[in-house]
Amino acid sequence: MKKLILKFYKELIFKLKKKIDLDLKKLNLNSLNELFNHFETDKGSAVKNPYSKNKDNLDKSLIGHGYAEFYEFHFSYLKNKEIKLLEIGTWKGGSIASFHHYFSKAIIFCLDRNYKFQFKSSRINFFNCNTRNINELKKFENLLIKKKSENLDIIIDDASHIYSDILNNFKIFFKKVKSGGFYVIEDLNHYKYYSHLNDSSSDSLGIEEILKLLKNGQIFKSSTLDEEFQNYCFNNILDISIHKGIQDDSYIAFIKKK
Ligand SMILES: C[S@@+](CC[C@H](N)C(=O)[O-])C[C@H]1O[C@@H](n2cnc3c(N)ncnc32)[C@H](O)[C@@H]1O
Repeated sequence: MKKLILKFYKELIFKLKKKIDLDLKKLNLNSLNELFNHFETDKGSAVKNPYSKNKDNLDKSLIGHGYAEFYEFHFSYLKNKEIKLLEIGTWKGGSIASFHHYFSKAIIFCLDRNYKFQFKSSRINFFNCNTRNINELKKFENLLIKKKSENLDIIIDDASHIYSDILNNFKIFFKKVKSGGFYVIEDLNHYKYYSHLNDSSSDSLGIEEILKLLKNGQIFKSSTLDEEFQNYCFNNILDISIHKGIQDDSYIAFIKKK
């Protein structure tokens, strides 16, 4: 009960919060990297550490994964198409604001378990959801049905980067990608660099290994991805490319559906 009241309260505060209206924002930035840097998402090549807690902004070091070139490589042909895009893990919305400008006709869905999202637009649908919570996922699915958007062109997982979350999200959301569409996993190797993200067991396969096996149609043992899902992947994955960005830990996977 206490939890429900708290959620209701947070939802109310979020609804009342003043947001930046992206439909009114005219920008002269065309490349995705410029947009990523402008809206300060670490998908860009040169952003001040967006997660720095230093309020005086003393932490001026430039960081960024440099993922724009890979997004442009796979998606530039969709720039002016009426696509549907979902990002899981949007935080303040820097990447969503960039995609809103880049994909000028896209209908965008955003999922996050917190309420830090700062933007609004007639093309953006923010939904508060923890992907570990089945009830919240069900509600999100109902929203997609209501918006006639059960299948999406692009789904991006930029949420926790925890090993098990990456696999669980893939299992839940890959089926929602349209034929010919893409499922993107950002920072897929972070769990190897940061121990708090690594909840795999000693005999678990690495994420890259799993993707290779799925691409090659080889069955493997996994507590998350059962045989039925693996078979679904064998029948539905056309290609998987893994790209290396700027930082040591910058890896991104683009999984194309048949
Ligand atoms: C790396 S940030 C997202 C950054 C954003 N995509 C950008 O480029 O600016 C990760 C976000 O994932 C969210 N997140 C983590 N675990 C989640 C979960 N289980 N369900 C929903 N959101 C989650 C966090 O609340 C956080 O806002």
